[in-house]
Amino acid sequence: MNSNSKTPVYLYDLELLRNTLNALTDASANPSYRVHYAMKANANPMILAQIKEAGLGVDTVSGGEIRRAIEAGFAPKSIVFAGVGKTDEEIQYALSIGIGCFNVESLPELINISEIASQLGVVAPIALRVNPNIDAHTHHYITTGLSENKFGIDLRQLDAVVDKARELPGIDLQGLHFHIGSQVTIAEPFRILSQRINELQTSFEKRGVTFRSINVGGGLGIDYDNPQVNPIPDFKSYFDAFSELQLREGQELHFELGRAIVGQCGTLLTKVLYVKEGVDKTFAIVDAGMTELIRPALYGALHHIVNLSNPQGAERLYDVVGPICESSDTFATDLTLPEVRRGDLLRIFSAGAYGETMASQYNSRQLPSSIRLSEFEG
Ligand code: LLP
Repeated sequence: MNSNSKTPVYLYDLELLRNTLNALTDASANPSYRVHYAMKANANPMILAQIKEAGLGVDTVSGGEIRRAIEAGFAPKSIVFAGVGKTDEEIQYALSIGIGCFNVESLPELINISEIASQLGVVAPIALRVNPNIDAHTHHYITTGLSENKFGIDLRQLDAVVDKARELPGIDLQGLHFHIGSQVTIAEPFRILSQRINELQTSFEKRGVTFRSINVGGGLGIDYDNPQVNPIPDFKSYFDAFSELQLREGQELHFELGRAIVGQCGTLLTKVLYVKEGVDKTFAIVDAGMTELIRPALYGALHHIVNLSNPQGAERLYDVVGPICESSDTFATDLTLPEVRRGDLLRIFSAGAYGETMASQYNSRQLPSSIRLSEFEG
Protein backbone atom coordinates (compact mmCIF):
# COMPACT_ATOMS: atom_id res chain seq x y z
CA MET A 1 0.00 0.00 0.00
CA ASN A 2 1.13 3.46 -0.81
CA SER A 3 1.83 5.49 2.30
CA ASN A 4 1.79 8.65 0.18
CA SER A 5 -2.03 8.39 -0.08
CA LYS A 6 -3.69 11.60 1.02
CA THR A 7 -5.26 10.90 4.39
CA PRO A 8 -7.56 10.94 6.24
CA VAL A 9 -9.92 9.96 3.46
CA TYR A 10 -13.20 8.09 3.19
CA LEU A 11 -13.07 5.13 0.82
CA TYR A 12 -16.44 4.14 -0.63
CA ASP A 13 -16.93 0.65 -1.99
CA LEU A 14 -19.61 1.32 -4.59
CA GLU A 15 -19.79 -2.32 -5.60
CA LEU A 16 -20.69 -3.30 -2.04
CA LEU A 17 -23.27 -0.51 -2.02
CA ARG A 18 -24.77 -1.88 -5.24
CA ASN A 19 -24.91 -5.41 -3.78
CA THR A 20 -26.47 -4.07 -0.58
CA LEU A 21 -29.10 -2.17 -2.57
CA ASN A 22 -29.86 -5.30 -4.60
CA ALA A 23 -30.30 -7.33 -1.41
CA LEU A 24 -32.57 -4.60 0.00
CA THR A 25 -34.64 -4.41 -3.17
CA ASP A 26 -35.09 -8.19 -3.26
CA ALA A 27 -36.10 -8.37 0.40
CA SER A 28 -38.58 -5.48 0.12
CA ALA A 29 -40.21 -6.59 -3.14
CA ASN A 30 -43.78 -5.93 -2.06
CA PRO A 31 -45.90 -3.53 -4.14
CA SER A 32 -47.09 -1.78 -0.95
CA TYR A 33 -43.57 -1.11 0.37
CA ARG A 34 -41.61 2.12 -0.22
CA VAL A 35 -38.08 2.60 1.11
CA HIS A 36 -36.84 6.14 1.74
CA TYR A 37 -33.10 6.31 2.33
CA ALA A 38 -32.31 8.29 5.51
CA MET A 39 -29.86 10.74 4.04
CA LYS A 40 -28.50 11.89 7.39
CA ALA A 41 -26.45 8.68 7.35
CA ASN A 42 -24.46 9.76 4.30
CA ALA A 43 -25.11 12.58 1.83
CA ASN A 44 -22.06 12.11 -0.37
CA PRO A 45 -23.11 12.73 -4.02
CA MET A 46 -21.59 9.46 -5.27
CA ILE A 47 -23.61 7.54 -2.70
CA LEU A 48 -26.81 9.47 -3.41
CA ALA A 49 -26.46 8.89 -7.16
CA GLN A 50 -26.35 5.14 -6.70
CA ILE A 51 -29.25 5.11 -4.24
CA LYS A 52 -31.33 7.11 -6.67
CA GLU A 53 -30.43 4.63 -9.42
CA ALA A 54 -31.83 1.85 -7.24
CA GLY A 55 -35.19 3.65 -7.19
CA LEU A 56 -35.38 4.54 -3.49
CA GLY A 57 -36.95 7.72 -2.13
CA VAL A 58 -35.18 9.85 0.45
CA ASP A 59 -35.83 10.86 4.07
CA THR A 60 -34.48 14.33 4.90
CA VAL A 61 -34.19 16.39 8.09
CA SER A 62 -33.26 19.87 6.89
CA GLY A 63 -33.65 22.30 4.01
CA GLY A 64 -30.02 21.57 3.15
CA GLU A 65 -30.72 17.86 2.80
CA ILE A 66 -33.79 18.53 0.65
CA ARG A 67 -31.62 20.71 -1.64
CA ARG A 68 -29.01 17.97 -1.91
CA ALA A 69 -31.70 15.41 -2.70
CA ILE A 70 -33.08 17.62 -5.47
CA GLU A 71 -29.55 18.18 -6.82
CA ALA A 72 -29.04 14.41 -6.83
CA GLY A 73 -32.16 14.12 -8.98
CA PHE A 74 -34.70 12.67 -6.54
CA ALA A 75 -38.29 13.52 -7.50
CA PRO A 76 -39.86 15.90 -4.92
CA LYS A 77 -42.71 13.46 -4.31
CA SER A 78 -40.17 10.81 -3.29
CA ILE A 79 -38.76 13.05 -0.55
CA VAL A 80 -40.08 13.10 3.01
CA PHE A 81 -39.10 15.77 5.52
CA ALA A 82 -38.73 14.98 9.24
CA GLY A 83 -37.24 16.73 12.28
CA VAL A 84 -38.46 18.26 15.55
CA GLY A 85 -37.43 21.80 14.66
CA LYS A 86 -38.37 22.71 11.10
CA THR A 87 -37.95 26.45 10.45
CA ASP A 88 -40.50 28.55 8.56
CA GLU A 89 -38.02 28.92 5.67
CA GLU A 90 -37.55 25.16 5.47
CA ILE A 91 -41.31 24.55 5.51
CA GLN A 92 -41.85 27.17 2.76
CA TYR A 93 -39.07 25.65 0.66
CA ALA A 94 -40.41 22.10 1.09
CA LEU A 95 -43.89 23.24 0.09
CA SER A 96 -42.56 25.18 -2.89
CA ILE A 97 -40.92 22.10 -4.38
CA GLY A 98 -43.98 19.90 -3.72
CA ILE A 99 -42.43 17.63 -1.09
CA GLY A 100 -43.91 14.13 -0.72
CA CYS A 101 -44.66 14.32 3.00
CA PHE A 102 -43.84 16.22 6.20
CA ASN A 103 -43.32 13.97 9.21
CA VAL A 104 -44.77 16.25 11.88
CA GLU A 105 -43.47 15.96 15.42
CA SER A 106 -45.69 18.25 17.51
CA LEU A 107 -48.94 20.22 17.67
CA PRO A 108 -47.29 23.66 17.35
CA GLU A 109 -45.40 22.44 14.28
CA LEU A 110 -48.66 21.18 12.77
CA ILE A 111 -50.33 24.54 13.35
CA ASN A 112 -47.35 26.36 11.81
CA ILE A 113 -47.35 24.17 8.69
CA SER A 114 -51.10 24.74 8.34
CA GLU A 115 -50.63 28.53 8.50
CA ILE A 116 -47.75 28.58 6.02
CA ALA A 117 -49.51 26.23 3.57
CA SER A 118 -52.69 28.31 3.78
CA GLN A 119 -50.77 31.53 3.10
CA LEU A 120 -49.16 29.90 0.06
CA GLY A 121 -52.50 28.49 -1.09
CA VAL A 122 -51.26 24.91 -1.07
CA VAL A 123 -52.03 21.76 0.89
CA ALA A 124 -49.26 20.10 2.92
CA PRO A 125 -49.20 16.30 2.89
CA ILE A 126 -48.32 15.21 6.42
CA ALA A 127 -47.79 12.15 8.59
CA LEU A 128 -47.88 12.47 12.37
CA ARG A 129 -44.85 11.08 14.14
CA VAL A 130 -46.01 8.98 17.04
CA ASN A 131 -43.83 8.09 19.96
CA PRO A 132 -44.75 4.41 20.42
CA ASN A 133 -42.95 4.06 23.77
CA ILE A 134 -40.95 0.97 22.73
CA ASP A 135 -37.48 0.20 24.02
CA ALA A 136 -35.23 -0.46 21.02
CA HIS A 137 -32.47 -1.92 23.23
CA THR A 138 -29.77 0.22 21.68
CA HIS A 139 -27.47 3.03 22.85
CA HIS A 140 -29.21 5.58 25.06
CA TYR A 141 -28.37 8.43 22.65
CA ILE A 142 -29.92 6.68 19.65
CA THR A 143 -33.08 5.37 21.31
CA THR A 144 -35.87 7.59 20.08
CA GLY A 145 -39.16 5.80 20.69
CA LEU A 146 -39.45 6.07 24.48
CA SER A 147 -41.88 8.56 25.95
CA GLU A 148 -39.03 10.41 27.69
CA ASN A 149 -37.53 11.30 24.26
CA LYS A 150 -38.11 14.63 22.53
CA PHE A 151 -39.31 12.92 19.34
CA GLY A 152 -42.87 12.46 18.17
CA ILE A 153 -46.28 12.82 19.75
CA ASP A 154 -47.05 10.92 22.94
CA LEU A 155 -49.64 8.17 22.48
CA ARG A 156 -51.80 9.82 25.16
CA GLN A 157 -52.00 13.02 23.12
CA LEU A 158 -52.38 11.44 19.70
CA ASP A 159 -56.18 11.41 19.37
CA ALA A 160 -56.38 15.15 19.96
CA VAL A 161 -53.60 15.92 17.47
CA VAL A 162 -55.17 13.66 14.81
CA ASP A 163 -58.50 15.46 15.25
CA LYS A 164 -56.73 18.80 14.90
CA ALA A 165 -54.88 17.65 11.76
CA ARG A 166 -58.19 16.65 10.18
CA GLU A 167 -59.81 20.03 10.78
CA LEU A 168 -56.92 22.43 10.11
CA PRO A 169 -56.81 24.13 6.69
CA GLY A 170 -53.89 23.41 4.36
CA ILE A 171 -53.24 19.98 5.89
CA ASP A 172 -53.75 16.59 4.29
CA LEU A 173 -53.24 13.93 6.96
CA GLN A 174 -51.86 10.95 5.08
CA GLY A 175 -50.39 8.71 7.69
CA LEU A 176 -48.68 7.85 10.91
CA HIS A 177 -44.92 7.77 11.32
CA PHE A 178 -42.82 5.85 13.85
CA HIS A 179 -39.12 5.41 14.53
CA ILE A 180 -37.91 3.51 17.56
CA GLY A 181 -34.15 4.03 17.42
CA SER A 182 -31.03 3.18 15.49
CA GLN A 183 -28.53 0.27 15.37
CA VAL A 184 -31.29 -2.14 16.39
CA THR A 185 -29.91 -5.65 15.98
CA ILE A 186 -32.81 -7.79 17.17
CA ALA A 187 -36.18 -8.21 15.45
CA GLU A 188 -38.29 -8.09 18.60
CA PRO A 189 -38.74 -4.29 18.86
CA PHE A 190 -39.89 -4.18 15.22
CA ARG A 191 -42.42 -6.95 15.92
CA ILE A 192 -43.70 -5.07 18.95
CA LEU A 193 -43.97 -1.94 16.83
CA SER A 194 -46.04 -3.86 14.25
CA GLN A 195 -48.43 -5.02 16.96
CA ARG A 196 -48.74 -1.53 18.40
CA ILE A 197 -49.54 -0.16 14.95
CA ASN A 198 -52.24 -2.83 14.49
CA GLU A 199 -53.87 -1.80 17.77
CA LEU A 200 -53.68 1.87 16.85
CA GLN A 201 -55.17 1.37 13.40
CA THR A 202 -58.06 -0.62 14.85
CA SER A 203 -58.79 2.03 17.45
CA PHE A 204 -58.66 4.83 14.87
CA GLU A 205 -60.94 2.93 12.51
CA LYS A 206 -63.53 2.72 15.30
CA ARG A 207 -63.51 6.51 15.22
CA GLY A 208 -63.77 6.56 11.41
CA VAL A 209 -60.13 7.56 10.85
CA THR A 210 -58.07 5.72 8.22
CA PHE A 211 -54.56 6.34 6.87
CA ARG A 212 -53.06 6.00 3.40
CA SER A 213 -49.58 5.28 4.69
CA ILE A 214 -47.79 3.89 7.69
CA ASN A 215 -44.12 4.75 8.12
CA VAL A 216 -42.08 2.54 10.44
CA GLY A 217 -38.88 4.61 10.28
CA GLY A 218 -35.43 3.07 10.11
CA GLY A 219 -33.10 1.53 12.65
CA LEU A 220 -31.81 -1.76 11.27
CA GLY A 221 -28.28 -2.23 12.61
CA ILE A 222 -25.07 -3.51 11.04
CA ASP A 223 -22.30 -5.80 12.26
CA TYR A 224 -19.57 -3.50 13.56
CA ASP A 225 -17.61 -6.43 15.02
CA ASN A 226 -17.29 -8.47 11.82
CA PRO A 227 -17.83 -6.13 8.88
CA GLN A 228 -15.87 -8.29 6.46
CA VAL A 229 -17.83 -11.43 7.40
CA ASN A 230 -21.23 -9.71 7.37
CA PRO A 231 -20.98 -6.81 4.92
CA ILE A 232 -24.69 -6.94 4.01
CA PRO A 233 -27.36 -6.77 6.75
CA ASP A 234 -30.04 -9.41 7.05
CA PHE A 235 -32.76 -7.45 5.27
CA LYS A 236 -34.97 -10.49 4.95
CA SER A 237 -35.35 -10.98 8.72
CA TYR A 238 -35.91 -7.25 9.10
CA PHE A 239 -38.80 -7.12 6.61
CA ASP A 240 -40.17 -10.40 8.01
CA ALA A 241 -40.48 -8.67 11.39
CA PHE A 242 -43.18 -6.47 9.82
CA SER A 243 -45.14 -9.37 8.35
CA GLU A 244 -47.57 -9.16 11.29
CA LEU A 245 -48.38 -5.56 10.50
CA GLN A 246 -51.87 -5.64 9.00
CA LEU A 247 -51.88 -3.25 6.09
CA ARG A 248 -55.26 -2.02 4.99
CA GLU A 249 -56.45 -2.12 1.38
CA GLY A 250 -54.39 0.27 -0.76
CA GLN A 251 -52.24 1.32 2.20
CA GLU A 252 -48.49 1.86 1.74
CA LEU A 253 -45.83 0.83 4.25
CA HIS A 254 -42.84 3.17 4.33
CA PHE A 255 -39.36 2.40 5.65
CA GLU A 256 -36.52 4.87 6.32
CA LEU A 257 -33.29 2.92 6.47
CA GLY A 258 -29.98 4.74 6.66
CA ARG A 259 -27.16 2.86 8.37
CA ALA A 260 -28.13 -0.57 7.00
CA ILE A 261 -27.79 0.73 3.44
CA VAL A 262 -24.52 2.66 3.63
CA GLY A 263 -22.79 1.67 6.87
CA GLN A 264 -20.48 -1.02 5.52
CA CYS A 265 -19.64 0.53 2.14
CA GLY A 266 -17.54 3.27 3.77
CA THR A 267 -14.21 2.89 5.53
CA LEU A 268 -11.91 5.58 6.83
CA LEU A 269 -8.27 5.44 5.77
CA THR A 270 -5.85 7.04 8.17
CA LYS A 271 -2.08 7.25 8.46
CA VAL A 272 -0.04 6.58 11.58
CA LEU A 273 1.79 9.78 12.50
CA TYR A 274 3.67 8.52 15.53
CA VAL A 275 3.99 5.43 17.65
CA LYS A 276 4.41 6.63 21.20
CA GLU A 277 5.69 4.22 23.81
CA GLY A 278 4.11 5.22 27.11
CA VAL A 279 4.88 3.64 30.47
CA ASP A 280 1.89 1.29 30.47
CA LYS A 281 0.61 1.68 26.96
CA THR A 282 1.63 2.10 23.37
CA PHE A 283 -0.25 4.74 21.44
CA ALA A 284 -0.72 4.64 17.69
CA ILE A 285 -1.37 8.30 16.95
CA VAL A 286 -3.21 8.60 13.64
CA ASP A 287 -4.09 11.54 11.42
CA ALA A 288 -7.87 10.95 11.64
CA GLY A 289 -9.72 11.95 14.75
CA MET A 290 -13.16 12.61 16.15
CA THR A 291 -13.40 15.36 13.56
CA GLU A 292 -13.59 12.72 10.79
CA LEU A 293 -15.39 9.97 12.75
CA ILE A 294 -17.07 11.04 15.96
CA ARG A 295 -18.92 7.81 16.75
CA PRO A 296 -16.27 6.36 19.14
CA ALA A 297 -16.01 9.66 21.06
CA LEU A 298 -19.75 10.32 21.16
CA TYR A 299 -21.22 6.85 21.69
CA GLY A 300 -18.23 4.75 22.74
CA ALA A 301 -18.70 2.95 19.41
CA LEU A 302 -16.12 0.36 18.39
CA HIS A 303 -15.13 0.17 14.74
CA HIS A 304 -13.06 -2.72 13.43
CA ILE A 305 -9.52 -1.57 12.50
CA VAL A 306 -6.84 -3.27 10.37
CA ASN A 307 -3.25 -2.34 9.60
CA LEU A 308 -3.10 -2.40 5.80
CA SER A 309 0.63 -1.74 5.64
CA ASN A 310 1.90 -4.56 7.86
CA PRO A 311 -0.69 -7.36 7.90
CA GLN A 312 1.87 -10.03 8.79
CA GLY A 313 3.57 -8.04 11.56
CA ALA A 314 3.95 -9.43 15.08
CA GLU A 315 0.87 -8.60 17.15
CA ARG A 316 0.98 -5.99 19.91
CA LEU A 317 -1.49 -3.99 21.96
CA TYR A 318 -2.26 -0.39 21.00
CA ASP A 319 -4.48 2.47 21.92
CA VAL A 320 -5.39 4.00 18.57
CA VAL A 321 -5.89 7.70 19.13
CA GLY A 322 -6.48 10.81 17.05
CA PRO A 323 -4.70 14.18 17.11
CA ILE A 324 -7.56 16.22 18.60
CA CYS A 325 -7.17 17.87 21.98
CA GLU A 326 -9.81 15.74 23.72
CA SER A 327 -9.26 12.53 25.70
CA SER A 328 -12.34 11.02 24.07
CA ASP A 329 -10.54 11.27 20.72
CA THR A 330 -9.78 7.55 20.87
CA PHE A 331 -10.70 4.92 18.28
CA ALA A 332 -9.67 1.87 20.28
CA THR A 333 -8.21 0.95 23.65
CA ASP A 334 -5.94 -2.10 24.11
CA LEU A 335 -6.50 -3.26 20.55
CA THR A 336 -4.39 -6.10 19.16
CA LEU A 337 -2.86 -5.11 15.82
CA PRO A 338 0.06 -6.33 13.73
CA GLU A 339 3.02 -4.10 14.57
CA VAL A 340 2.21 -0.48 13.77
CA ARG A 341 4.93 1.81 12.42
CA ARG A 342 5.08 5.48 11.52
CA GLY A 343 3.56 5.91 8.04
CA ASP A 344 1.42 2.75 8.17
CA LEU A 345 -2.09 2.98 6.80
CA LEU A 346 -4.94 1.85 9.04
CA ARG A 347 -8.41 1.16 7.74
CA ILE A 348 -11.33 1.85 10.06
CA PHE A 349 -14.39 -0.17 9.00
CA SER A 350 -18.15 0.45 9.05
CA ALA A 351 -17.74 4.21 8.68
CA GLY A 352 -20.16 4.68 5.78
CA ALA A 353 -23.04 5.77 8.03
CA TYR A 354 -22.80 8.79 10.34
CA GLY A 355 -19.13 9.17 9.51
CA GLU A 356 -18.59 11.80 6.85
CA THR A 357 -21.96 13.46 7.61
CA MET A 358 -20.96 14.04 11.23
CA ALA A 359 -17.49 15.36 10.44
CA SER A 360 -16.60 18.73 11.93
CA GLN A 361 -13.93 21.37 11.63
CA TYR A 362 -13.06 21.42 15.34
CA ASN A 363 -9.43 22.48 15.85
CA SER A 364 -9.78 24.30 12.48
CA ARG A 365 -9.27 21.09 10.61
CA GLN A 366 -10.31 20.50 7.02
CA LEU A 367 -13.31 18.32 6.28
CA PRO A 368 -12.27 14.88 5.04
CA SER A 369 -12.24 14.04 1.36
CA SER A 370 -13.64 10.89 -0.18
CA ILE A 371 -12.75 8.59 -3.06
CA ARG A 372 -14.06 5.38 -4.57
CA LEU A 373 -12.36 2.31 -3.12
CA SER A 374 -11.45 1.28 -6.69
CA GLU A 375 -9.43 4.53 -7.11
CA PHE A 376 -7.43 3.68 -4.01
CA GLU A 377 -6.72 0.11 -4.99
CA GLY A 378 -6.00 1.11 -8.59
N1 LLP B 1 -35.88 7.89 10.51
C1 LLP B 1 -35.75 8.73 11.55
C2 LLP B 1 -36.90 9.50 11.98
C3 LLP B 1 -34.52 8.84 12.22
O1 LLP B 1 -34.41 9.67 13.25
C4 LLP B 1 -33.41 8.08 11.78
C5 LLP B 1 -32.11 8.19 12.44
C6 LLP B 1 -33.58 7.22 10.69
C7 LLP B 1 -34.85 7.14 10.08
C8 LLP B 1 -32.47 6.36 10.15
O2 LLP B 1 -32.05 5.47 11.10
P1 LLP B 1 -31.03 4.28 10.71
O3 LLP B 1 -31.73 3.36 9.73
O4 LLP B 1 -29.84 4.89 10.11
O5 LLP B 1 -30.76 3.62 11.99
N2 LLP B 1 -25.51 9.26 14.65
C9 LLP B 1 -25.98 8.03 15.25
C10 LLP B 1 -27.30 7.59 14.66
C11 LLP B 1 -28.39 8.64 14.74
C12 LLP B 1 -29.68 8.18 14.11
C13 LLP B 1 -30.63 9.32 14.01
N3 LLP B 1 -31.89 8.97 13.40
C14 LLP B 1 -24.90 6.96 15.09
O6 LLP B 1 -23.84 7.27 14.56
O7 LLP B 1 -25.06 5.85 15.53
